Amino acid sequence: MMSRRNDQGDAGIRITVVGSGYVGLVAATCFAELGHSVICVDNNQHRIASLQQGNVPIYEDILPELLRKHVGQRLSFSSDLATAVKASAAIFIAVGTPTAEHGEADLSAVQSVIEEIADSMDGYKIIVEKSTVPVQTSDWIASILLRRGISRTCFDVVSNPEFLREGTAITDFMHPDRIIVGTNSNRAWEIMSAIYAPLAEGYYYAAGSSVPGRCSVDQTPSLIRTSPASSELIKHAANAFLAMKISFINSVANLCEAVGADIQEVALGIGTDRRIGKGFLNAGIGYGGSCFPKDVTAFCSVASQFGVDLDLLVQVRQINSQQRERFITKIRSTLGSLRGKRLGVLGLAFKGGTDDVRESPALSIIASLLQDGCTIVAHDPVAITNTQRVLQHQALAYTDDPYSVANQADAILVLTDWQEFTQLDFVEIKRRLKTPIVFDGRNLLNIDTMSTMGFTYLGVGRPLITCPTPHRLQMHSIAAIAS
Ligand code: UGA
Repeated sequence: MMSRRNDQGDAGIRITVVGSGYVGLVAATCFAELGHSVICVDNNQHRIASLQQGNVPIYEDILPELLRKHVGQRLSFSSDLATAVKASAAIFIAVGTPTAEHGEADLSAVQSVIEEIADSMDGYKIIVEKSTVPVQTSDWIASILLRRGISRTCFDVVSNPEFLREGTAITDFMHPDRIIVGTNSNRAWEIMSAIYAPLAEGYYYAAGSSVPGRCSVDQTPSLIRTSPASSELIKHAANAFLAMKISFINSVANLCEAVGADIQEVALGIGTDRRIGKGFLNAGIGYGGSCFPKDVTAFCSVASQFGVDLDLLVQVRQINSQQRERFITKIRSTLGSLRGKRLGVLGLAFKGGTDDVRESPALSIIASLLQDGCTIVAHDPVAITNTQRVLQHQALAYTDDPYSVANQADAILVLTDWQEFTQLDFVEIKRRLKTPIVFDGRNLLNIDTMSTMGFTYLGVGRPLITCPTPHRLQMHSIAAIAS
């Protein structure tokens, strides 16, 4: 990409991104795409060596192309944080903030990075929180720097949360709904404005080679300035709100099952109200991943530290885990005892478009079903290797062939919303199945097509479709499913 700045011979802002995980790697690559000079630092030397050799550690659309384009040009990888800090005007912190013992975020990785940065400061720099952190972390970071002898005039701490979804992270970065910059310092605001100028002023979109997406020269994302505390809250509140939408629609889906309504129709009907919005109204087996479960818990925890009860979010979490249980109950009450039964699973990743299986509903459902004594054959387009690292069982086999999961199986379970699954030949799948039953945990498949093909189809919050030809399904239990 040739930004306006680069056309003028400017190499953009000198940036260090600390952390080469999902957020760090995507942010570093996208900053390079925006025309900045970026060093991505990680203390995992093996990972850095691998990145330097051109390997791409995560499955993420467009990332390989952008890495090829920028590594060795505007983007480099290093384990030497001190040198990177000295070379940079802005240092983005994108290290992990996992859940600690009581639900709060564990900030120990952030702390050790800040201490190391403090020891290498040689002039004014901005320290930018990219990782998801609890409110008031920016004050805490400033206090660490001050304690380590850095003058207050030599730094500003900025909160700049990311809103990237795995699988579409590059597009989300380049075509954001908004960019939040939390800072009380005009000097820091100017640097952050310059970093995001190609997007906020729109000239990135004028370049022929820009990543395609929703924004354009005429429709640019807004750059919103807030206080650091507001910005930190925005990140947690945004994820919590989206999780709440999912738990809300799942609750309504359960009601749909009880009264014979269709959640797809209800979601369309309410989602077209612009005040509600269509997004995040897909009912199913609940949310997973490395963000929502962790962030909702951390948000509750930080609120209670300040004496505020976020009971609503406690319910959101409860509904989310009950949703998996309901799905398992549906399988048990339809198939009867699972001992000796064979199930085919389509989907292991926590959602389509990624190989990430962290907190994947699919994995916990599979683990539960295996305890009932069934055998399972599972397929995922890209997440098998990651699943094998965390889920091994003698009654669980993996296959690269989606059709094999159906061989002599008593039912198929759709557990991840991979669009590929909608393109499968279900005539062939039906031919291989012992009984043509599909439990669609993501409401991915077309209910009419499944019905016409003669499947017994059980989605989430959708009308129950029963196979017209009698098979060994224990039909007496259908009433139990609807109740
Ligand atoms: C989420 C947010 O969407 C991002 O904005 C945020 O930056 C990111 O967390 C983060 O904090 O880093 P991500 O976890 O990649 O992104 O995935 P989502 O697309 O949000 O999906 C989360 C879970 O909710 C998945 O398990 C998905 O299957 C589920 N989901 C999503 C539903 O069950 N129904 C929906 O309608 C939407």
